[in-house]
Amino acid sequence: MTEAVRFVMLYPREQIQATVAALARDITRDYAGKNPLVIGVLKGSFVFLADLTRRLEFPLEIEFVRLSSYGRGTSSSGKVTVVHGMRASVKGRHVLVVEDIVDTGLSITHLLESLRVKKPASLRLCCLLDKPARRRVPVEIHYRGFTVPDRFLVGYGLDHAEQYRNLPDICYLEETRGQTTSV
Ligand code: IMP
Ligand code: MG
Repeated sequence: MTEAVRFVMLYPREQIQATVAALARDITRDYAGKNPLVIGVLKGSFVFLADLTRRLEFPLEIEFVRLSSYGRGTSSSGKVTVVHGMRASVKGRHVLVVEDIVDTGLSITHLLESLRVKKPASLRLCCLLDKPARRRVPVEIHYRGFTVPDRFLVGYGLDHAEQYRNLPDICYLEETRGQTTSV
């Protein structure tokens, strides 16, 4: 018997864009005129950040940080490290962190704590996907796209072993037995 992976569409691209537009409206209402520092968490947020920020028609600055906790598996190791830091100064800035998905919450909590000690004027989190079923630490999410089921998701920036980030839709992976399915 063969084992294969099947992609099941969860959020098609049109639905993602409508949600990104709604988030951009809320963020515009709260940040226009504040020249915020928008920090994207690499790599997963790069597509979301690009779509979101192009809908924010006011002055802002973009930075990236890179965290690591997953390795190549599909569940968190619980160990979080900042792999790539940023140059911009956070002190006194209105900081908006943009994340693809909050799962256990360990990565984002680590990042938010490391930013908070730098004394930003304000600090908020925007995530496209919230997976509350696996949360291990409470996380305050100010701007949330979708609350998602406890599935491993890929596409629109999210990967499995560094693959599938370029898929325009968000899908979940399902292992199938006895049939082969092409990607
Ligand atoms: P956390 O520390 O468990 O909240 O994990 C956060 C990070 O793990 C996210 O920024 C993603 O990069 C990755 N991650 C969590 N769940 C998924 C998933 O379903 N698909 C792909 N990546 C995920
Ligand atoms: Mg991420």
